[in-house]
Amino acid sequence: MIGKAQGPPVSITGVGAYVPDRVLTNDELSTLVDTSDEWIMERTGIRERRIAAPEQALTDLALPAAKAAIAQAGIEGKDLDLLLCATVTPDMMFPTSSALLADTLGANEAAAYDLLAGCTGFMYALAQAYGMLVAGLAERALVVGGDVLSRILDWTDRSTLVLFGDGAGAVVLEKVEKPGFLGFELGADGGGGIHLSLPGSGSRSMEEATGNGYVHMNGREVFKFATRVLVSSAEAVLERCGAAVEDVDVYIPHQANVRILDHAVQKLGIPRERMIVNVDRYGNTSSGSIPLALAEAQADGRLKKGDLVLMTGMGAGLTWGSALMEWTQ
Ligand code: UT7
Repeated sequence: MIGKAQGPPVSITGVGAYVPDRVLTNDELSTLVDTSDEWIMERTGIRERRIAAPEQALTDLALPAAKAAIAQAGIEGKDLDLLLCATVTPDMMFPTSSALLADTLGANEAAAYDLLAGCTGFMYALAQAYGMLVAGLAERALVVGGDVLSRILDWTDRSTLVLFGDGAGAVVLEKVEKPGFLGFELGADGGGGIHLSLPGSGSRSMEEATGNGYVHMNGREVFKFATRVLVSSAEAVLERCGAAVEDVDVYIPHQANVRILDHAVQKLGIPRERMIVNVDRYGNTSSGSIPLALAEAQADGRLKKGDLVLMTGMGAGLTWGSALMEWTQ
């Protein structure tokens, strides 16, 4: 799916993020599984990640992020009429984390539901909220992306354990005067889905699945997929919007592995200093990754009004998604 923005201009008017306090270093991981700081740094660029406390579930991470985004937008929870939460680790399957968050935030008039698209979830939710605002179905949306992947990892499997971390981010979308969002490109390849899966997590019996009920990943295949779609999706959305790669001021790719990110900037021809990188400190936080990076870029003063911002996510599904926008805050 690809589209250039049409209709009333819509943009991000508030951003927030939250990560748990607990820092888990590579050295600590090497006491749990057969790995080393050297291997993890060299193959992934990840130095440490955050891990939720036992009593913290997804909404506990999402709530502070949501509150910060709402405050920055200068609105209140009750002003929201749409709340989307992209996650593969909701508090529970139902009630949805979105409905729980809407209740806590006082968003009593809001439609609220969760969305599943693996690490691309935030990009899918962003596009969906955008579409609802443009169609006049909603005026103010909160889009949350977050995951507590530490709960669905096999803590004896070094090939997945070292990659992931916990965190959440949130943005408020509203109609504005000048166009923020310029276009989106989203895609899915279920044929490759087997390469990144959570067997036993749904109605398909464990007997028919491969794996042990934890995240199952064919790292090499996902690596090849990720390096390919980060480039193709970004190029597609830029072309559809009539923008050149040289115009991109801030590039925010899904924070999966620094080698994947370096490959993408090199292939795309985006100067590395325009790319936001925080995978070294948080690992891959799945749906939380792009809004976390967005919040950090804003806090560091790297996002300025008028900047052309390119975001691309990819992950389980296999799915991918890009958004191109002019920063309007
Ligand atoms: O949102 C998308 C989510 N997923 C991803 O983005 C993951 C994409 N894939 C990757 O990032 C990389 O494939 C990995 C970081 C997972 C693995 O890196 P790699 O360079 O592709 O390593 P590999 O799978 O080819 O494994 C090389 C060796 C193997 O040993 P042998 O067979 O050569 O003896 C692995 O068993 O490294 C071994 N290995 C490890 N060694 C130390 C795998 N994981 C570890 C580890 N520590 N944590």
